[in-house]
Amino acid sequence: MEKRIITTDVTEEDFSLEGNLRPQTLDDYIGQEKTKNTLKVYIEAAKQRHDALDHVLFYGPPGLGKTTLSGIIANEMGVHMKVTSGPAIEKPGEMAAILNNLQEGDILFVDEIHRLNRQVEEVLYPAMEDYAIDIMIGKGASARSIRLDLPKFTLVGATTRAGLLSAPLRDRFGVMHHLEFYTHEELQTIIIRSAQVLGVEIDEKGAAEIAKRSRGTPRLANRLLKRVRDFAQVKYDGRITYDVACFALNLLEVDQYGLDKIDRRILQTMIVNFQGGPVGLETLAAAIGEDSGTLEDVYEPYLLQNGFLNRTPRGRMASALAYKHLGYPMPDKN
Ligand SMILES: Nc1ncnc2c1ncn2[C@@H]1O[C@H](COP(=O)(O)OP(=O)(O)OP(=O)(O)O)[C@@H](O)[C@H]1O
Ligand SMILES: [Mg+2]
Repeated sequence: MEKRIITTDVTEEDFSLEGNLRPQTLDDYIGQEKTKNTLKVYIEAAKQRHDALDHVLFYGPPGLGKTTLSGIIANEMGVHMKVTSGPAIEKPGEMAAILNNLQEGDILFVDEIHRLNRQVEEVLYPAMEDYAIDIMIGKGASARSIRLDLPKFTLVGATTRAGLLSAPLRDRFGVMHHLEFYTHEELQTIIIRSAQVLGVEIDEKGAAEIAKRSRGTPRLANRLLKRVRDFAQVKYDGRITYDVACFALNLLEVDQYGLDKIDRRILQTMIVNFQGGPVGLETLAAAIGEDSGTLEDVYEPYLLQNGFLNRTPRGRMASALAYKHLGYPMPDKN
C-alpha cells in the first residue's frame, strides 16, 4: 500500500510533533463542545468530593483527540496517568500488576481497549466495579483465590472500534463519549494555535486553507501545517499565507476537499471506466490495483461520508459531486 500524507493514523513524522502540540487543559482543547462540557462538570464534581472520576470511554476515528483528552483529564484532576494499550498486555497477571501499582485517584489509560484479550479483560471487571482484583494462589486442589483491594482509580479507555468492545466491559464505563470530526473553523483555530507553538507566522486565510483540506482531523491538520511550513521556509519568506498554503498543498496533491491522488483515481476510474457505476467492489479494486479490503476499509469511508460515492445494492456509484469535482459532465441517465 502506498504511503499517504492524508492518513489519519499516527505516522512517524507525527511523533516529534504531537507531544508539543497536545493541549494540556480543557480550555486549550478546541471543539468537541458537548464532551468537553460534560467532562468539566464531572471533573469539578469529583474534585469537590475528593473522589476518583467515573470510568470514561472515548471512541471515534483516529486522530480526533482521544489520547489528548485523557491526558487533559489527568492534568485537570491533578493525578498521575499510567498509559498502556490493549495489544501490549498479554497476560492477566500483567494487568493485575499494573492495577496494583496505581495510587489513589490515578488514571489508567488503555488505548485500543477493544484489543484486550478475554482473560485480561476479566481482571478489569472487579477492578472497575469494586476496586479489587482476585488472585489465585496455590495449585490444584489447594488453589484458592484471594481478593486484593485496589486504590480508587479511573480507567480511561480509547477505541476506534466501539462495536468490538464486549458488552460486560462497555457496561462498566460510567461515561462514554463519541468524538466527532471537526469543523473547518475549529481546525482553523487548532492550526493557528499549533503555528504559535511551532513559532510559524500564519494568516487567517492560510490557516483556513489548510483546515479545509484536513479531513476533519486535527492530527492531519498539524501534519499538513508542518509540511506547508517547510515550503514557506524554503520557497517563501517563512510566512504561511493563502498562496503559500495552496502552492504547498497542491504540490502534495491534497486537494480542496482533502482528497489525495488515490481518492481521485478511484473516482476517476468509476467515471471513466464504468460510466459512474454501479460497479462492484471487487471489480473496482481490480481496476485500480488495490485489494478490496483496503478499498473498503481505508479509501472508501471518507469518500462515502463526504458524498463522493454512494453504495447501492448493485455496487458503488460516483455521485454528482464526484463528477463536478473532477470536472466531468454528468451523463444523462435516460
Ligand atoms: N481538540 C483538539 N485541539 C487541539 N489539538 C488537538 C485536538 N485534538 C487533537 N489534537 C491534536 O491532534 C493530535 C492527535 O490527537 P490524539 O493523539 O489525541 O488522537 P487520538 O484520537 O488518540 O488518535 P488515535 O486513535 O490514533 O490514538 C494531537 O497531537 C493533538 O496535537
Ligand atoms: Mg491515541
